[in-house]
Amino acid sequence: MARERHVDAEVDYQALAKRHLWLHFSRMGAYDRGGEVPIIVRGEGCRVWDDHGNRYLDALSALYCVNIGHGRRDIAQAGADQAGEIGFFTTWSYAHPRAIELAAKIAELAPADLNRVFFTSGGGESVETALKVVRQYHKLRGSPLKTKFIAREVAYHGTTLGALTATGVTGLRTPFEPFTPGGCHVPNTNLYRLPPGQGAETLAETVRARIEFEGPETVAAVIMEPVQNAGGCFVPPEGYWRQVREICDTYDVLLISDEVICSWGRLGEWFGAQRYDYRPDIITTAKGLTSGYAPMGAMIASDRVMEPFLEGNNSFVHGFTFGGHPMAAAVALANIAAMEDEGVLENVREHEADLRAMLDSLRDIPIVGDVRGAGYFHAIELVKDRETKASFSDEESESLLRGYLSQELYGRGLICRADDRGDPVVQFAPPLIAGPEEFEEMEAILRPVLEEASRRVGSR
Ligand SMILES: Cc1ncc(COP(=O)(O)O)c(C=O)c1O
Repeated sequence: MARERHVDAEVDYQALAKRHLWLHFSRMGAYDRGGEVPIIVRGEGCRVWDDHGNRYLDALSALYCVNIGHGRRDIAQAGADQAGEIGFFTTWSYAHPRAIELAAKIAELAPADLNRVFFTSGGGESVETALKVVRQYHKLRGSPLKTKFIAREVAYHGTTLGALTATGVTGLRTPFEPFTPGGCHVPNTNLYRLPPGQGAETLAETVRARIEFEGPETVAAVIMEPVQNAGGCFVPPEGYWRQVREICDTYDVLLISDEVICSWGRLGEWFGAQRYDYRPDIITTAKGLTSGYAPMGAMIASDRVMEPFLEGNNSFVHGFTFGGHPMAAAVALANIAAMEDEGVLENVREHEADLRAMLDSLRDIPIVGDVRGAGYFHAIELVKDRETKASFSDEESESLLRGYLSQELYGRGLICRADDRGDPVVQFAPPLIAGPEEFEEMEAILRPVLEEASRRVGSR
């Protein structure tokens, strides 16, 4: 039995966190002024506990990662066992058995001819890698001007300076400009708020228009998520991906499917592209690959993308020391094996309609404007007026999301995400082992909190 090591009673974790830990995307001043840092110490299945012993339903899978659920010692053990054999060796010019096995396993599960796996340490590195590989690919094929990439508005593709160029959230970009040139954006598939003059069936054509506008000889790739997270789970309309694929083929533009969230069962398939039946040239992934038990990501390339890199002395001049780390690879293999053995994807397919039905049942609450998503990846959009779809001012959104909803939901034991990178939404992505019992627990917390939020802002 492994030794339990949650918290040491002698240590003042709050004080040390406030003094020394820099939380990501966090207003640290709020903690400095007395706010309490939430400290999560233990997890099991769909639930986690904080340092006070309070229990929470983790309806966000620790930021879309813990697909297999918390507290799996067997998956962690695979990393420990690997460390005893070879704890680390790099994939710069060398290989080791776990990286080889994992690359072959990923290629087996990935769609079409996506047979080549370049490992990274996370999602942003995977996107960065994809954006670099498409540029070098076109240069090697004699199209050096093809350097631009087209992403979608409000999409999040990571925070490294390259990935940030694809990220379409103004507030995350402005503090770090200027960027490397090349990032362009088109409308996303927010079907609840279609841009003026657009029908759902014409959205893919905005990609063509942008390629034409930029000049096809300058465009390297299109990068999109199967279901866009930021803005609140924008699903593609019927035929969208088929059209985008055709447009990319027309202009010799590569298609990158950013599946940092949407792979490893999140949409009920190994990869999101399989759910919507399209063939990307590149998939970027991370998070659920190891169910978060080790930091790891991957850029998966098709045989066609790989081709010029196999010629002569060519090489992809890019790498990360820890890409393909043996312990992370062993953890990923154990995670995928557990997902296969335990029918985790089947669980998502069986119960995604239950999750959706529970969220749809909240539509009688005036603040619930829209419910959308796929698989175990859904969002509720909050509105002031359902009739007109009127949203909130920045101040209203601030006091609604940060002043009430986030704290109240957490206080009542539900971890989900109240977010306003686009219009205000609450997002849900429970571990893929969740089922009706967890959805009932979510509803019991969501209903009174959303009803109170409705009253506070006078939604109708
Ligand atoms: C679609 C997408 N791409 C890239 C990233 C960046 O991943 P990471 O935070 O692991 O760098 C994320 C993170 O949430 C993401 O959702």
